[in-house]
Order: sequence, then structure tokens, then C-alpha cells
Amino acid sequence: MSFLNELEPLKQAALADLKSATDLAALEQTKGTYLGANGKFTALMKQLGTLSKEERPAAGKLVNQAKVELENALAERRSDLELKAALPKEPTDFTLPGRRRSLGKLHPLTQVSDDIVRAFRKIGFAVADGPEIEDEYHCFDALNTPADHPARDLQDTFYVAPGTSPATTQTPSRLLRTHTSSVQIRVMQKQPPPVRIISLGRVFRRDNADATHNPTFHQIEGLYVDKNVTVSDLKGTVEFVFKELMGSDVKVRFRPHYFSYTEPSFEIDFSSSLVKKMGKDWLEIAGCGMVHPQVFANVGYDPEVWSGWAFGFGIERIAMIRYGINDIRLFYENDVRFLRQF
Ligand code: DAH
Repeated sequence: MSFLNELEPLKQAALADLKSATDLAALEQTKGTYLGANGKFTALMKQLGTLSKEERPAAGKLVNQAKVELENALAERRSDLELKAALPKEPTDFTLPGRRRSLGKLHPLTQVSDDIVRAFRKIGFAVADGPEIEDEYHCFDALNTPADHPARDLQDTFYVAPGTSPATTQTPSRLLRTHTSSVQIRVMQKQPPPVRIISLGRVFRRDNADATHNPTFHQIEGLYVDKNVTVSDLKGTVEFVFKELMGSDVKVRFRPHYFSYTEPSFEIDFSSSLVKKMGKDWLEIAGCGMVHPQVFANVGYDPEVWSGWAFGFGIERIAMIRYGINDIRLFYENDVRFLRQF
């Protein structure tokens, strides 16, 4: 049993080495030195086989106890070193001010759109949606807009299918919608009257960009269909919504106009302190009218039974008046110095 005399000093040496390992790599090295396949402690264990039957149980017990001690010491040191490795190299100064993330803001057009939707929801309108890539039928034909109407000209309109001349071809061309009025048709095709919807979205025209024009802008469309709907319903609704949006001093004026999908048709001018500030008495703001009987017939509504009104206006225009913005292009530049102001 002479090798047992070596057990205690070897164990003490191993424990000391494990404790003094300064990092995980050094610890693994130490583990190998003692407990690896060719380690010193492993060698000692192998000698157990050389003992006699009588000596072996007691010796085995001692060796096993020592091994458990070493393994515990190894695990303890390993968790200490792992914790040390996970700590930041530099101490943390908890007294430093925190890093704040600045809050973003809704785009002014989104703010105005939300306000418009809120105003119309108060009086029972739902929001409808339609595609930005439309066909000529929904954008023009169904709205009683004849094939030779200038809005259908290639000069005015972004056609998607190349090489189709809109006024002459029989196959329906697709185009970027020139107005949200196409959504009126989609809604009426889908549901029976009564209808009370607004629809907001992007529209596209071949306009050159300047302070008041942009090839892409946003419109809101309104459509109300029921029995015995009159121009006074239209006027009352428009007045209510503009007062909600622009303040209670708003005045609204209707001027006779022409749209192929309404009869009679009007342009809406409005006046308010904001308009006066711009040095004007009235500003033209929207188109509207009583839905043309032919439009009802096109969607299968009986024009003898149903009547209704529709309107459309530009959202940028509203936002420009409301916030005193003098160039429409500012909306699309995504310059935070501009956007932060609203
Ligand atoms: N679609 C017209 C435009 O883009 C606006 C408009 C006028 C919409 C009269 C209507 C309407 O619904 O009845 O200029």
C-alpha cells in the first residue's frame, strides 16, 4: 500500500493548482495534468490493480474520496472563472446618464389622414380600400368617363401595360389610379345600398413636380348612397368635416362644375382664418356632386330608388393649409428637420 502515502500530498498539490488557475484555459490544463488519461492522479488510480484483494476495498475508498474532492474543486473553480470571464473588462459606472431613444413622430400626412378618418367615423362612415394599380374600367368607364376624355390620355396617366393606347384599344389596360374615385365603383359592386364609406390613398398623375404638384399624391374619397339623399346632406357633411379639421370658423362655398360621374357637380371652396393668413378669401379644395344615374346603373343600383353624393379631395392640400406649408415636395423628402415640426 505504499502508493497510498503519495495520495494525500498529490491531492493537496492538485487542489492548490486548481485553485490557483487564473483562467479557464489554465484550469483545463491543470485538469489534464491530474485527471487526464495520462494524469498523475489517474496513474495513482491505476495502481489500485496491483493491490491484494484484502487491501483493495479500503484503498479504493480513499482514492475515490480524493477523486470526488478534486472534481468538486474543479467544478467550483470552473464556475468562478466562467463568471469572471462574463464580467465586463471595464467596471460599469452606474452613475452615468442613460442612453435615451428619441421618439419618432407620425408623418404630417398620416396625422391629417387619421384626423379625417376620425371625423368621418363620428358620423358613421367606414373606411374602404382599393388597389393602386387599377384597370381602366374602374378608373374611368364605370365612372361614366368616356374614352376620349383627356384624363385617359397617355400624357396624363401612367399606364402599366406598355404600348397600349388607352383611347383606341378594346382590351382593358391597367394603370396607376389617377384618383380614388375608382374605389366608389369597387365598393358598390361588392355591396348593396345603403353605402357610407370614405377611402384614402395614393394616386398618380403625370404632373411635373413643383410647389403645388407632384406625380404622386394622396386623396380621400367619400360616397354616401341611400334613399332621398340630397345636396344639403352633402353640404352639411362637408361643412361638419372641414370644421372638425380646420376649426369652427370654416366657411364652405359650392360652385357649379363638371364631373362625368356626378350630376349636378360642384367644386368646393372654403374660407377660414388660415386661408385669410395666406392672403386669400377662398381656396378651392374639393370636387363633389350627386352620383350620376349612369354610375348607379353601371354597378347595378336602381337610380330610380337610390340617390347619393360623392366627393374627392387632396390630403396634401389640407395639410398644407393646416400647417402653413408652402411646397408640396417637402412631404416626400423625409427630411427630419421638416418632419419634426408637426
Ligand atoms: N376624382 C376627382 C379628382 O380627382 C375628385 C372628385 C370629384 C371625386 C367629384 C368625386 C366627385 O367623388 O364626385 O379630381
